[in-house]
Amino acid sequence: MQQRAMFRNMTNEEKIKTEGTTHFGFRDVNEDEKQSLVKGVFDSVADKYDIMNDVMSGGLHRLWKNDLIRDLRPKPGMHLLDVAGGTGDIAFRFLKTAKSRMKEGEAPAKVTICDINANMLAAGRARALDHGNFDHIDWVTGNAEMLPLPDCSVDAYTIAFGIRNVTHIDIALTEAFRVLKPGGRFICLEFSKVDLPLLKQIYDAYSFNLIPYFGEIITGDKDSYQYLVESIRKFPSQEKFKTMIKDAGFKKVTYRNLSGGIVAIHSGWRI
Ligand SMILES: C[S@@+](CC[C@H](N)C(=O)[O-])C[C@H]1O[C@@H](n2cnc3c(N)ncnc32)[C@H](O)[C@@H]1O
Repeated sequence: MQQRAMFRNMTNEEKIKTEGTTHFGFRDVNEDEKQSLVKGVFDSVADKYDIMNDVMSGGLHRLWKNDLIRDLRPKPGMHLLDVAGGTGDIAFRFLKTAKSRMKEGEAPAKVTICDINANMLAAGRARALDHGNFDHIDWVTGNAEMLPLPDCSVDAYTIAFGIRNVTHIDIALTEAFRVLKPGGRFICLEFSKVDLPLLKQIYDAYSFNLIPYFGEIITGDKDSYQYLVESIRKFPSQEKFKTMIKDAGFKKVTYRNLSGGIVAIHSGWRI
């Protein structure tokens, strides 16, 4: 109890340097090891990441990301920070929707994609070049726990399938709060807890047996996809994560489940 109170009173830098343990999938590891293990996962799968997403989810990840964008309501002139933005799926959708709403004389929307993994960003940049999508995007290498952006500098913050990989989720949330302007919106899309017993059984059987197998066939890396499945089980429930978002200072925090809770979208506002 006393230890938890001490932790709460530390600065983010002090918290990042603590030498506790955390989980990497179902394994316990030192906190200072986790980031490089996660980096290894995404280094290994970066060039097959997008194909694997389609295969694993049967294309559902596209619908879930569209849902996030609908909630976000992109507008011309808006500056989005997409953390753990990887190969750019959220950023591309955001810019496309904002552009479709743009009237003459309005400033375009822009997006900063921040990801800790340079290989994921490189795969995203290559996609952007292929699709002629490179205007109004900044690609930044950085850690969600120490965002390389000033206070109160963005209108919205998104993180899709990223936060469960972060070592200190509470710190990432306080960083999200710091960089948002007052009135700014936080939205997180993440795997969550399935709330229907039959669906849970099917989902568990599918994810523990088939996903690592697809990972092996498509990326040659079974272990990274075993980590993915395990990391989903270690992520806090919808309610617990909602409390963590509130603890970081956000107001009007809500969530909604998609596909029976396979994923959830959490939202909060910096007032
Ligand atoms: C599953 S991918 C999600 C990519 C993209 N948002 C999407 O939805 O397709 C997770 C991403 O989180 C990034 N990541 C992991 N830990 C991070 C951290 N501490 N800070 C920033 N990015 C991180 C990884 O490099 C990877 O690109």
